[in-house]
Amino acid sequence: MTQEQDFKGKVVLITGAASGIGEATALKFAERGAKVAIGDINEESNKVVQQIKDHGGEAVFFQTNVSNPEEVKALVEQTAAHFGKIDCAFNNAGVLPQIASFIDTTVEEFDKTIAVDLKGVFLCLKYELEYMVQAGGGSIVNTASVAGLIADPDMSPYVAAKHGVVGLTKAAGIEYADKGVRVNAVAPGVTATPLAKEKLEDPEIREEMIGNVPADRAAKPEEIAETVLYLSSDKASYVMAQTYVIDGGQIAH
Ligand SMILES: NC(=O)c1ccc[n+]([C@@H]2O[C@H](COP(=O)([O-])OP(=O)(O)OC[C@H]3O[C@@H](n4cnc5c(N)ncnc54)[C@H](O)[C@@H]3O)[C@@H](O)[C@H]2O)c1
Repeated sequence: MTQEQDFKGKVVLITGAASGIGEATALKFAERGAKVAIGDINEESNKVVQQIKDHGGEAVFFQTNVSNPEEVKALVEQTAAHFGKIDCAFNNAGVLPQIASFIDTTVEEFDKTIAVDLKGVFLCLKYELEYMVQAGGGSIVNTASVAGLIADPDMSPYVAAKHGVVGLTKAAGIEYADKGVRVNAVAPGVTATPLAKEKLEDPEIREEMIGNVPADRAAKPEEIAETVLYLSSDKASYVMAQTYVIDGGQIAH
């Protein structure tokens, strides 16, 4: 089998694929033969679906707020009904909180960030695992962050949420390792996506974000996508409950 077709016939569910890392991953999965279902709050996802179809692939968009249990349950059910199965899932939707010191962080901002970045991943895992265990197997990748392993200053809700994603990955990963479902996470460093764009355009903030990155640049979304595809593939058949760091050397520094 050529690498270009290694996901032929597979069905992949991706959240947060209207832009950035999720979009790059959706396009790469589709290039390699997968059928892609996108769950996102943003209707721009339709453009990604169209791009996949224009290249001869199959894709569908279900508008979903990942912090809403009914909507996430429906996303999993609709994906399975539409394509007949789900082989892989990439739980990637996320938001950044306002930059603020711990003391200045509002309770509302904390709740909002946790609802999407942590509860959203919990809900996706819950319903995907339920489906995959009953179906006999599958593979799931969550998007954590280097902020799930070290603390970035002035982003306490995000740091808490992403540490939680690393924890959920371990918890789900060990519980379902013997039931044919592998659960892993990626922990990207600074990545040039709409989420980080505004900050990267300000030279002072850019220096703060990239200054301690040995690679001296942000990651391209496609560089994160490659690791997601590896972890989702059978090549990673003995990789379970792990968080893969893709950070240009940042946290080893
Ligand atoms: N860009 C970075 O530097 C960086 C670094 C580490 C981790 N991450 C993580 O990568 C993931 C993707 O982020 P990105 O950088 O590609 O940003 P992005 O803003 O381009 O993508 C985020 C996606 O999530 C979707 N989304 C937001 N809230 C949602 C909700 N409630 N329900 C459903 N979808 C929702 C958005 O519509 C968008 O499509 C996030 O989890 C983020 O925390 C990003």
